[in-house]
Amino acid sequence: MNVDYKEAFEKTKEAGSIAAGALDEVNKIIKPGISTGQIDMLCYEYINDHGAYSAPLFYRGFPKSCCTSTNHVVCHGIPSEKILKEGDIVNVDVTALKNGWHGDTSRTFKVGNVSIKAEKLVQATYESMMKAIGIIKDGIHLGDIGSTIQSYVEKEGFSVVQDFCGHGIGKTFHKEPNVLHYGEKGTGEIIKTGMIFTIEPMINYGNYETKTLNDGWTAVTKDKSLSAQFEHTIGVTKDGCEIFTKSEKIIK
Ligand code: MF3
Ligand code: CO
Ligand code: CO
Repeated sequence: MNVDYKEAFEKTKEAGSIAAGALDEVNKIIKPGISTGQIDMLCYEYINDHGAYSAPLFYRGFPKSCCTSTNHVVCHGIPSEKILKEGDIVNVDVTALKNGWHGDTSRTFKVGNVSIKAEKLVQATYESMMKAIGIIKDGIHLGDIGSTIQSYVEKEGFSVVQDFCGHGIGKTFHKEPNVLHYGEKGTGEIIKTGMIFTIEPMINYGNYETKTLNDGWTAVTKDKSLSAQFEHTIGVTKDGCEIFTKSEKIIK
């Protein structure tokens, strides 16, 4: 990794801030009665208005500008006419492409009042991501990240999805390395200053297994239990890491 990583960090931060800003807008309008298609339109417009492209749109044939994954949908839910109702949880995943660089982030939103069960799952999922981000610095192993997430969520009684993972990101949307959200300390690649990748744990209330629906995208829990996810794009530094998809307005 050469010194040019500073430029990569700046570019990724620009893209990441737009993606985070889109989610801040979603946070303002999300409530029972709106459709996932309306969320998609909002993300499309916000990202365009900020001089960027929505990377998911037409990515490998994906038809919309963001992913909306409700309740037992693990990831890659396709926005539609589907109306959100009180008690739903919905992950909105946006990726902005600005000046050739990607920023990828997602949050799970609570629609009105949700069950204590859903509340706990969403909180634990967020915590697991932040705990992993907290240990990242030059020299640790990728397995340290997975192990941090897995040990925490399993202690809380939840399970880690294994069929999808975080990923390197930059001029390319998805690149090496694969960032698994489970694993053993001290195993896997050693991460280095300047690397940019996502952490995006998908955590299930029940069993970890998933299956993909006939639309070729929507991944759901096999046992129909609830699933939550959060995602940040980060850059590794000597003593820690920088989060490129932080919200200016709210903590999550
Ligand atoms: N944003 C997702 C991720 O975190 C990828 C979505 S690809 C799509 O990697 F085609 F489904 F949009
Ligand atoms: Co991602
Ligand atoms: Co994403």
